[in-house]
Amino acid sequence: MTKRKVGIIGAGAVGATAAFSLSMMGTCSEIVLFDIAEGVAKGKAIDIGQSTHYAPNSTVITAAQSPADVSECDIVVITAGVPRKGDMTREDLLMINAKIMKSVVEDVMKYSPDAVIICVSNPLDVMTYVIGQMTGWDRSRIVGLSGALDGARMAYQIYNKLGYGAGQIGTLVIGDHGQHMIPLPQEVQVGSVDVSELLSQKDMEEIIERTKNGGAEIVKHLGTSGYYAPGRAIAYMVGAILNDAKVVVAASALLEGEYGYSDVAVGVPVILGKQGVEKIIEMKLDDETKAKFATSVESIKEGISVLRKNDFFN
Ligand code: APR
Repeated sequence: MTKRKVGIIGAGAVGATAAFSLSMMGTCSEIVLFDIAEGVAKGKAIDIGQSTHYAPNSTVITAAQSPADVSECDIVVITAGVPRKGDMTREDLLMINAKIMKSVVEDVMKYSPDAVIICVSNPLDVMTYVIGQMTGWDRSRIVGLSGALDGARMAYQIYNKLGYGAGQIGTLVIGDHGQHMIPLPQEVQVGSVDVSELLSQKDMEEIIERTKNGGAEIVKHLGTSGYYAPGRAIAYMVGAILNDAKVVVAASALLEGEYGYSDVAVGVPVILGKQGVEKIIEMKLDDETKAKFATSVESIKEGISVLRKNDFFN
């Protein structure tokens, strides 16, 4: 991994914010943006490129004219997709985004065959699974953004309650990146002190609810989903992989028997390094968490079964 080149497919709000965040940190040498909407990648590449004048080191930001220009990347981040519109069912949206994913992944396999793919498009865990199926790559090279973002949202809620401990709040959110996500208060520490010493159970229950609705709360105010926290979380994962940091972070990974499940991608703690998901950490879950995890996996498998029912994988 010498080039430190990152491709971002889908230069919408999240993709562009990830590019901006990466360039402000000087994490990579080159970022190439691609978007199907004409002018989007070009315009944002120019704007972000101009912002790098004030960055710690230079990053070359280019816009791909075609998918073939997203070539020989070390990492490809996929945010391509469409949001749900009024008349679309969840199933419609799933099929549309899965088809987009299929065509994007074919290009990634052709032009960046050695990359690690970070999936960002929703429904996240199902899309991560689709990438696993489409590529047939070693599962270490496929990872989805979930816990890195949901954990940041949980830490934000805890800080808002406490008023101290910023940057010292360790959180863990596993399960799907959706309505059955599992924030784990029993794993939260603030500067090595268990959060149960600092917050009441009632406070924690409120924090869990607000974490689960973290995305929806932003939509309510903004009319669109958030992109700063997702963009920064993507940049964190990219940095961990490029720098072989071997950080422990929750992310959507393809399970092969871990936690008792296979043939599914779901949020679990992993070690992220230059190979991508270098290890899935299997925690001992208590019975209540096991049951929540089962529900979460079930919801992802339902999405996968919709794709199967529609012959998507054939
Ligand atoms: N190839 C490349 N880009 C595509 C394709 C495609 N086949 N299809 C759609 N896109 C682009 C759109 O043109 C758009 O610019 O993907 C971009 C998506 O950006 P936004 O609509 O701004 O959505 P954003 O908020 O960035 O979210 C992207 O991340 O968090 C998830 O749920 C979110 O799935 C969504 C994704």
